[in-house]
Amino acid sequence: MEAVIKEIIVGYESEKTPLISILHRVQDKLGYLSEEVLKLVAKYLDLPLSKVYGVASFYTLLDTEEKGENIVRVCESAPCHVKGSMNVLTELKSELGIDIGETTKDNKFSLELTSCLGVCGVAPAIMVNDQVYGNLTAKKLEEILEKY
Ligand code: FES
Repeated sequence: MEAVIKEIIVGYESEKTPLISILHRVQDKLGYLSEEVLKLVAKYLDLPLSKVYGVASFYTLLDTEEKGENIVRVCESAPCHVKGSMNVLTELKSELGIDIGETTKDNKFSLELTSCLGVCGVAPAIMVNDQVYGNLTAKKLEEILEKY
């Protein structure tokens, strides 16, 4: 783990890379940003742990806890809310049998909320891992979940 973090940070040395980009890269490689990982990032960037932890815990796309294989994020911003994102959320909770912030027993899905995904024109929208889906209906949700 330490070697992975070191490699990512060394690769950015010549650039003024924002901490958030480094944390994304580290998360992509290691799955999530555990306390141990954040301490190593802080050490190699020579930053206070509080600053690294602050960035990691502020952004919804960065995870400081271990999640399921697939993360389902429901957009809760106003345009999606108006178009029924809470119905989508209710359907997902029922389909997956979990609440927001929880992971299914088989570790396949975690359910979270997120702010605008940038596709308000097709609201309500969700994101599963890196894939965004819009114009959601109950039937469409079922089909989407079956893909994973
Ligand atoms: S408000 Fe949901 S995608 Fe923009």
